[in-house]
Amino acid sequence: MTRVWCGGFSKSQLIVKLAVEPTVIGVLWLTQLLVMFGVEGERKCAMIDDLTLARSLHILAVVIWIGGVYFVTFIVLPSLKATANGIARFEAIETLFARHAKIVVTLAGASGFYMLHKLDGWAWYGEPSQWWVFAMTALWLLFTIVLFVLEPLFLHAWFMRQAAEDPARTLAWARRFHLILTLLSLTTIAGAIYGVHG
Ligand code: HEM
Repeated sequence: MTRVWCGGFSKSQLIVKLAVEPTVIGVLWLTQLLVMFGVEGERKCAMIDDLTLARSLHILAVVIWIGGVYFVTFIVLPSLKATANGIARFEAIETLFARHAKIVVTLAGASGFYMLHKLDGWAWYGEPSQWWVFAMTALWLLFTIVLFVLEPLFLHAWFMRQAAEDPARTLAWARRFHLILTLLSLTTIAGAIYGVHG
């Protein structure tokens, strides 16, 4: 008897659906599975270790996090008009994204420090050639402070006050701030990949 899994699909139907459905989630999970188990199946399974798992979680978190920041910077913000309605839409989108960002920023930090511990890499902070480790940590710290401390304490209220006074100027600030964060993030990612493989 065919066993029915979630959504009324059989197990094989679910696997085919996951493999062919061109959604972001499908691609992400497929990539995750390939990274974790390897395309060659059993033989590579033996190579899975906690460091590999931490690395794949780290990258997954960074993709969601920085991908979201990029989207807000280059798609959401330029599409908004500098009016009270534009500010309200920006607020709604940022509030939703901040919930996701808090989770993935925490995951990126936890997996990053775990890898550093496993690789015995604490001394890298003092080596100029390993500047990318410092850059990753500094960027993580910046986002952590903004998301968990500054935003709830005063940044949100300050932003709304400024927006009520001058929406155009406030949106221009938001654009500039997001552009700086995006450029810093992309440089850090490129530096990290070059640092590990270069
Ligand atoms: C607390 C913060 C962080 C720590 C402690 C940390 C630590 C690490 C460590 C130890 C590695 C593995 C190095 C190796 O495999 O030899 C790594 C990989 C990586 N990290 Fe981070 N990281 C942090 C945050 C970030 C952030 C904020 C980004 C990007 C915006 C980032 C992007 C990357 C990338 C792209 C790699 C993969 C490099 C590769 O294997 O090709 N990390 N990180």
